[in-house]
Amino acid sequence: MSNSEPNTTDRNSPTRNILVTNALPYANGPLHLGHMVGFMQADIWVRYQKLRGNHVTYVGGDDQHGTPIMLGAEKQGISASELVDQVEASHKESLNGFMIDFDNYTGTHHRENEDLVKNIYSVLRDKGHIDVKTIKQAYDEEKGMFLPDRYVKGTCPKCNASDQYGDNCEVCGSTYDTTDLIKPYSVLSGKPPIEKESEHYFFKVSEFADMLSDWKDSGALQPEIANKLEEWFESGIIDWDISRDKPYWGFEIPDAPGKYFYVWLDAPVGYMASHKIHCENTQQDWGKYWLAEQSQDTELYHFIGKDIVRFHTLFWPAMLEAAGYRRPTGVFVHGFLTVDGAKMSKSRGTFVMADTYLKHLNPEYLRYYYAAKLSNSVVDMDLNLEDFSARVNSDLVGKMVNIASRCAGFIVKRFDGQLADQSAAPELHQAFADASNSIASRYEKREFSQAMREIMALADKANQFIDEHKPWVLIKDETQLELVQQVCTAGINAFRSLCIYLKPVLPELVTQAEAFLNIAPLTWDDIQAPLLEHPINKFKPLMTRIEKDAVEAMINESKKSLEVIEAPAIDANTPLGSDPISTEVSFDDFAKIDLRIAKIVKAEHVDGADKLLQLTLDLGGETKNVFAGIKSAYNPEDLEGKLTVMVANLAPRKMRFGMSEGMVLAAGPGGSDLFVLNPDEGAQPGMRVK
Ligand code: 2FM
Ligand code: ZN
Repeated sequence: MSNSEPNTTDRNSPTRNILVTNALPYANGPLHLGHMVGFMQADIWVRYQKLRGNHVTYVGGDDQHGTPIMLGAEKQGISASELVDQVEASHKESLNGFMIDFDNYTGTHHRENEDLVKNIYSVLRDKGHIDVKTIKQAYDEEKGMFLPDRYVKGTCPKCNASDQYGDNCEVCGSTYDTTDLIKPYSVLSGKPPIEKESEHYFFKVSEFADMLSDWKDSGALQPEIANKLEEWFESGIIDWDISRDKPYWGFEIPDAPGKYFYVWLDAPVGYMASHKIHCENTQQDWGKYWLAEQSQDTELYHFIGKDIVRFHTLFWPAMLEAAGYRRPTGVFVHGFLTVDGAKMSKSRGTFVMADTYLKHLNPEYLRYYYAAKLSNSVVDMDLNLEDFSARVNSDLVGKMVNIASRCAGFIVKRFDGQLADQSAAPELHQAFADASNSIASRYEKREFSQAMREIMALADKANQFIDEHKPWVLIKDETQLELVQQVCTAGINAFRSLCIYLKPVLPELVTQAEAFLNIAPLTWDDIQAPLLEHPINKFKPLMTRIEKDAVEAMINESKKSLEVIEAPAIDANTPLGSDPISTEVSFDDFAKIDLRIAKIVKAEHVDGADKLLQLTLDLGGETKNVFAGIKSAYNPEDLEGKLTVMVANLAPRKMRFGMSEGMVLAAGPGGSDLFVLNPDEGAQPGMRVK
C-alpha cells in the first residue's frame, strides 16, 4: 500500500482491540481550547469505537519533565514535583469538564515510566544503537546550566533582526544553530553564553531508515505526513540527541551520572506506562498491545498535533522497533486551532483556557462544533465564535432537541407517555437506518464534519416530516388521535436515532435522552429497530441556546486573565510562534503609563549594538539610563540637549549592555525614518505629559 489513509474498517476481527493516545500536554500551564482539539478528536473516535462494540482503551497523562517545568517551579518557589502534581490536578479537572473519557491518566514522572524508559534505553545501548559524542553547546555561567535553544537569543545571522531565538528567526524565517547567532545572550541571566563541551548520548535513528520507509508506506500515515517523511529521508536522517546535562528535571541515565534523558525520550514512553498501569488495574495483558511478537491482534493509534510529527513518526517508531516493541498502526495528525481566523490572542480574549470556557458554556457545544469542523487532514481549524453560536443553536437546539420537544408533550400528556405500536413514518426510520454504514465510515475515517453533515440532513428530514403532519393541528381533531400518536412516535424515534449517531459527540446529552426515553444505554446497532409501544418519561429541555452574553463573558474573562496569568514559561520543547501576545491594551492600562518630558543630556553609541543608543535622560532632577533602538535614525550628538517624551514608570529591564530604566517614544516606519517625539521647547524636564 502506498501513501493512503490507514484502512481500519476492513479488519476481520469482530471485536477490535484498540489502544488510543492523545499527545501528552506539558505540565507547565493550564489547558486551553487549542489542546482540546486533539483530546476531543481522539475522545469522539474512541467513543464511536466503543459504541460499535470494540474493545478500546484511551490512555493519557501529563508530559512532566524538561527545562521549562524545572525553571517554572523554581520561579514559583516550589519543587518541580509539586508543580507537576498541581498542574495534573488542574488538567484532570478540565478534561473531566469536557467529558474526555480516559481509561487511565498518569503523568510521565512516574515509577512505571522510569522503569520502562531505562529498560528501553538499556536495550538500545546493548544493541549498539547509542553513540556517545562530545558536542559544544551554549552554557550560562551565571546560571550554571546548558541552555536549550529557546533560552538563547541574539541577532539573526541572516537578516540581522535583533532578539531572535537560538534556533530560528521569526523575522526572516531562517533556521540556524545557536552558535551562529550574532551577540547571543542568555534569556535567563542576560549574559552572553560561553560555548562548553559536553558528552551527549545519541540514538542512531539513521540505522532504522529502511524500516521507517516501509512503515511510511504501510498506510499508517496521512498522505501529507507520508510526503513529509519522504522529504526527511531525502535530506538524510540524523541521529537524535537523547541526553541533557544536569541540572535537568527528568530521569537520570543509568550509566551516566549527571546526564538525564531528554524529555522527548520519556514522553512517548509515557503512553506505554499509562497503559501498563491501566492493564495492571484491570488485569489485562499489556504485552498483547506492545510486544512486537504478540501484538498482531491489537491496534495502536496516536492522535497528535502537526508540530510534533517528527517525534512520533521517526524517533518513536524507531525506538519501539529497536527495543522489540510494535509500531503504531496509525498516527493521526491534526492542525492548529485558530479563533476568529487568527492565532489565539490573549489581548483579544481568544486565548481561552479550558476552565474559563467551562465557567460560561456547555462543553457539548464545543464538542459538537469541533466535530462539525474536523476532518482527517492536517489543516488548521477555525473556531469562529459567531458561527459557533449559530451552528450549535441551529443544529443541536433548533433541529435535534426540537424534534423531541415538539413530540414528547403530546405523547406524555395525551397518550399516557406511551409510544404507539407503529410509526407514522417507517420510511423515515428506514432512511436513518440506511445511513448507518455511511456515517460509521465517516467516523471511522475521522471525517467528523461529513458525519455531522449527514446526521443533520437526517434531522432536517425528520423536522420536515413533523412540519408536514402538524401534530399540533391534528390533535384538535378527536378522530386523528391515533395518527398524532404515530406521528409523534415517528418523531421520537427520529430523535432517538440522532442520539445514537451523536452519542460519541454528545455523551451527556444522550445520557439524559436515554433517561427521557426510558431505555438502556444506546448502542450503534439499536438504529435498526424502532422503539414502539414503549413508555417514555416527561421531557425536560436537553440543551438551551448559546446566548451571546455567555460568549462575551468568556471572552472578557479571558482578556482579564491577561492581567493575572503570567506569560507561559518559554517552552524549549515547542516550536516558535505558538503563543502570540498581541499589544492591544485597555484604556485603564494605558492610563497607568507615566509619560514625562525628559532632556537628553547624553547620547552615546553602545559597543557591539547595531541598533541601540544609550541615553542619559534628565527628568528634572532624576536621571535615567535608557537604551533606545534609534541608532539607524540619529547621530548621538544631534540628540544631546533635546527634549523628548519617555515612559518613566516602566519596570527596569536587564539588557545585554546594562539596565534600561524606561523608554523614549518614537514613531515612524523604521530605519532612518524614526522620529523621537520632540515636544515643544517650552516644556520642562520632569513635566507630566497629558
Ligand atoms: O508538544 C507537546 O505538547 C508535548 N508535550 C507532547 C508530548 S506527546 C508524547 F510524546 F508524550
Ligand atoms: Zn532573520
